[in-house]
Amino acid sequence: MEKKSKMQAEKHLTGTLVLSVFTAVLGFFQYGYSLGVINAPQKVIEAHYARVLGIVPMDRLAPNTSGEDGPIPSTVPSTVPSTIPGTGAWGSTEGMLAPPEDPAASPHVLTMFWSLSVSVFAIGGMVSSFTVGWIGDRLGRVKAMLVVNVLSIVGNLLMGLAKFGPSHILIIAGRAITGLYCGLSSGLVPMYVSEVSPTALRGALGTLHQLAIVTGILISQVLGLDFLLGNDEMWPLLLGLSGVAALLQFFLLLLCPESPRYLYIKLGKVEEAKKSLKRLRGNCDPMKEIAEMEKEKQEAASEKKVSIGQLFTSSKYRQAVIVALMVQISQQFSGINAIFYYSTNIFERAGVDQPVYATIGVGVVNTVFTVISVFLVEKAGRRSLFLAGLMGMLLSAVAMTVGLVLLSQFAWMSYVSMIAIFLFVIFFEVGPGPIPWFIVAELFSQGPRPAAIAIAGFCNWACNFIVGMCFQYIADLCGSYVFVIFAVLLLVFLLFAYLKVPETKGKSFEEIAAVFRRKKLPAKTMTELEELRGGEVA
Ligand code: GLC
Repeated sequence: MEKKSKMQAEKHLTGTLVLSVFTAVLGFFQYGYSLGVINAPQKVIEAHYARVLGIVPMDRLAPNTSGEDGPIPSTVPSTVPSTIPGTGAWGSTEGMLAPPEDPAASPHVLTMFWSLSVSVFAIGGMVSSFTVGWIGDRLGRVKAMLVVNVLSIVGNLLMGLAKFGPSHILIIAGRAITGLYCGLSSGLVPMYVSEVSPTALRGALGTLHQLAIVTGILISQVLGLDFLLGNDEMWPLLLGLSGVAALLQFFLLLLCPESPRYLYIKLGKVEEAKKSLKRLRGNCDPMKEIAEMEKEKQEAASEKKVSIGQLFTSSKYRQAVIVALMVQISQQFSGINAIFYYSTNIFERAGVDQPVYATIGVGVVNTVFTVISVFLVEKAGRRSLFLAGLMGMLLSAVAMTVGLVLLSQFAWMSYVSMIAIFLFVIFFEVGPGPIPWFIVAELFSQGPRPAAIAIAGFCNWACNFIVGMCFQYIADLCGSYVFVIFAVLLLVFLLFAYLKVPETKGKSFEEIAAVFRRKKLPAKTMTELEELRGGEVA
């Protein structure tokens, strides 16, 4: 009874906690928006690049500067895979443009500028994610989020004003700078959210990162429809619009309390930490959490400061580092972004009539199931959801392949592929989508946490970049069998997760760290953890 009311109190959601988490995850909203926004207006922006670079679209030989341009249809038949890497049915510019007189301004130059416009975002993310630990510790979580927001505002401005200058350069620069922002944000936000959340709500609040990302993706997909902003007139606004979220985040951050863990453990400011806890928890007695932080502090003091290099060399962290990296690799190499970057082409290939709307359908399903996982994650636990999600994705990837391969013999196979794509996304959101974003913060105590988040973020961005760059080429090589590669990888990740990923639900950071300290054992850790807690049930 007493325990129940304690849990109730722990679960208490105050206005300040809601505001703080909402404000922080606006950073992830921008990440999702930037990820999704580049997909829908591809052809319109490419046509604009073509005009700027002096490449003439074949089907529009008359000069077009009117701004009344709709999307330029590709002349590549969508069901015939090209044999030229990067130029086939999976989203190309090949066949759309006539070679210009100036050989330097060839369609390949256009393809290069486009690929760069897409992928430079992830490069920005990769670079900046390394500095997360340093900036988060130096400025504090809130101030750091505030300062890095400037990057987003500048990046979005460059894109929003792209038509007033050399648009390809402005877009590439703008996406690189927003990438820098998103890389920083993808580390700072989980750090802050996990540190301000009460243990009982850490998972649910952690899944909000993913919810913010998928909402960003969905909104960008909808706004990218050609009758909304995805047209020749409005695309700069479409690209620059997440600057509004940056501005909102900037002002709301001024109202958010600093992380009590940062104040107490890093700065040793006991009174300020208590004040911040009181704001976040309402009337609850802060002493229980302060005691928990004290334990973490002592642990951190005995650990000294942990650098990225030490994370890899010290055997103390090895298990946790491997798990942290593998969950990121699983998330990205599951193939999810192959769907998000190229879904329209995949649907076209699968024989779906209205691929753009099917893509938006994916965005909706993606969002709905992320909401469901917010509720599931504190009930079912991270480990079981992660495993279930990988297993479901594996089966969906197999079904998708069967559908694509047999499409030429049975027209109804297009439904199989379509349903498989939807299931693939649903299972992703059940576990492999949201969990990697917050589990890293849970796997490490205060000392090594910033460094761990930095390398995990870097790994996530690097894998994202690799999938974004290579999928098109591999799809051209493998044709309908391309998802077999992801199925094999998913099987490997599933086995790994079964053997190594621990349950972190309901455990304090200290208890989780203790599991890894004791460990050389396999990670079905419920029993271990219960032993550690003297049989107390979470
Ligand atoms: C995760 C991934 C991101 C992906 C998104 C799709 O947040 O990190 O790369 O686009 O899920 O929902």
